[in-house]
Amino acid sequence: MPTRRRIAAAFAAALAMPALLAGAAAPDPAPIGGSAGADWRSHGGGTDESGYSALDQIDVGNVNKLGLAWSLDLPGEASLEATPLEVGGTLYFTGSYSAVYAVDAVSGRLLWRYDPEIWRYPAKTHIVFPVNRGCAFADGRIFVGTLDGRLIALDAKTGKLQWSVDTLSPGSMNSSTGAPLAFRDKVLIGNGGADYGARGFVTAYDQKTGKQAWRFYTAPGSPEQNAGDPAMEAAAKTWSGKYWKTGTGGTAWNGLTFDPALGRVYIGTGNSGPYDPAVRSPEVKGANGDNLYLASIVALDADTGKYVWHYQVNPREAWDYKATAGMILATIPVDGRPRRVLMQAPTNGFFYVLDRETGKLISAEKIGKVTWAQRIDLTTGRPVENPNIRYETGVTEMWPSQLGTHNWQPMAFSPKTGLVYIPAMQLGTRWSREAGPGDVKFKGVVANPIIADADDAKGTLLAWDPIAQKAAWRVPRDMMWNGGTLATAGNLVFQGTADGFLSGYDARSGKVLWRFDAGLGIVSAPISFAVGGRQYVSVLVGYGGNTFGAGLLYAGWKFGAQPRRLLTFAVGRHAKLAPSAPRDMQLHPVDDPSFRIDEASLDQGHRLFVMHCALCHGPNVASSATAAPDLRESGLAMDPQAIRAVLHDGALERQGMPRFETLSDREVSQIASYIRAKAREALGTRKPRTEEDLPITF
Ligand code: HEC
Repeated sequence: MPTRRRIAAAFAAALAMPALLAGAAAPDPAPIGGSAGADWRSHGGGTDESGYSALDQIDVGNVNKLGLAWSLDLPGEASLEATPLEVGGTLYFTGSYSAVYAVDAVSGRLLWRYDPEIWRYPAKTHIVFPVNRGCAFADGRIFVGTLDGRLIALDAKTGKLQWSVDTLSPGSMNSSTGAPLAFRDKVLIGNGGADYGARGFVTAYDQKTGKQAWRFYTAPGSPEQNAGDPAMEAAAKTWSGKYWKTGTGGTAWNGLTFDPALGRVYIGTGNSGPYDPAVRSPEVKGANGDNLYLASIVALDADTGKYVWHYQVNPREAWDYKATAGMILATIPVDGRPRRVLMQAPTNGFFYVLDRETGKLISAEKIGKVTWAQRIDLTTGRPVENPNIRYETGVTEMWPSQLGTHNWQPMAFSPKTGLVYIPAMQLGTRWSREAGPGDVKFKGVVANPIIADADDAKGTLLAWDPIAQKAAWRVPRDMMWNGGTLATAGNLVFQGTADGFLSGYDARSGKVLWRFDAGLGIVSAPISFAVGGRQYVSVLVGYGGNTFGAGLLYAGWKFGAQPRRLLTFAVGRHAKLAPSAPRDMQLHPVDDPSFRIDEASLDQGHRLFVMHCALCHGPNVASSATAAPDLRESGLAMDPQAIRAVLHDGALERQGMPRFETLSDREVSQIASYIRAKAREALGTRKPRTEEDLPITF
């Protein structure tokens, strides 16, 4: 819409003027080692992806005067995971359904919004709950990877589509939720889907044209596909059986880092699929069964995509462990001399420092409760594992859980304090090949969360010294699923939390200096930038991003009850945030006593629900209430006809509720009966069902 564009441009210009008149120059200190200055141009701020801003106008002395500059409500959004970008006074970010927003950073006014309409691609989007972790900027373009696997280039000024490519093949189980990485003349995108056995890969495209430049697979394919490709031939030697048919995994759905000094990109690869290595790649005596390049950090030549080195954090991965967390580049002293390093805290509970020229391990230590390994051997670079951890002899109980000690939520590194700020958590998982009462067996294994000690299902903001490999300080959290971190040269660390606060800490001590009630839990990472001589902090507010063990991550936020928002702060500002509904830890199930539950259909209803609905509505109809409503509280779900309309006619398709045309009327009523039974159990008007005979296998 050209008129809107012109008005927006005029508006932005008018706002920029007072600062110019005042003669204020944007504070743009020389960024340290590629960290962010006035702009926040990449996912992690600068090319080092450190989540650190060199701005110091907001500091430990004045952070208590930080206030809301403006807020923007984002109707229709659910879980917000994105780290925004800020370039030349415009904020760019993505919403739950891969839409891109451009917002004037000073006024908070929406400049444009591009909706890729992912609901038009249902076959590719039913396999993951809808989230997106951000976009990339380069040379006047914004790039976004959509849930259905398209990579899209937009004109950064207007939001107009420049090109769009399908990065996936038909019928693939992959989907993109991560931010693309723009470097030199290329843009790189990965994808997820390892849990379903999808083979991972990353693809680089030409920024101008969208033409494919190179692709790197993170796991081998069939012998014919591997032939002539040294990286795949080497990887194939660590696999056995017909793995290319059974499933491999290793999808790179999050961490991508460009290294301008060495001309490389680093990709963090995902877990296996199927999880059980005995199913995926049966042990062969005397052979290496590591299953490369699962759960690895892989260095590739940035121009050609050719393999340079890899470091595998979990050989023969078996627990949904992944190395997909962000990777931070830094130069730190090791044994008295500066070394170019890469730092990562993957899910497995260790903190790794690698020499990024060679990929050689420098150090690795536990950052939390870790029971699967004793330590990482610095000579071989391999973990010293505890016995029977691959559930060979029955049940294996281990820490950390599938969610990891640290997941995708970005960590930050301050070169000023020398500390890494990690959104950490603690939980265990009980792994078994046998299904017990109520268990869901997924591709041959059962995984249940364990809460055994006082710190389980809790989080911490952990300040970690990467040189000494030990904690500097910790701030405990009541809940485990919290936001990413931002570190600034003002000696501050910012983090949003599940309980709905954004807080600022003294980066040296962990002392809390400032808190803001955001009215809804936060999982994304804040950023900092400067426009017209003034430093700002921005964060997306939209709790969610996981339906795992619904009860564990439930923080009292209900789907649609609290507005999803972008908040921006500056010193001395006092804008008011319209109040949102308070946290509500209670469930409010509804019921229609005249509804006749078909007892005989409950097993089948349960099975269908797990297969088609649990991803968003939560296992056992208990939603963590962020990706989708809790159906026990839904009036609509009391009426099988209404459910049928939603499923068959796609009545709520554009709101993120997929169309399920293939479910028969009988199946819909089986699901309806199951939902009703669960609502009545929650109301206490029905005895909890023993789902003893129902190991669901898929
Ligand atoms: C990809 C995520 C996703 C999946 C999978 C999914 N839903 Fe939904 N569902 C949603 C969202 C989001 C909404 C809320 C839409 C809105 O804003 O009104 C919703 C709403 C609904 C509603 C309306 C609730 C109300 O009170 O308005 C019903 C009923 C429902 N879903 C049933 C199902 C059933 C049954 C399945 C499985 C066959 C299923 N959904 C699978 C995301 C999902």
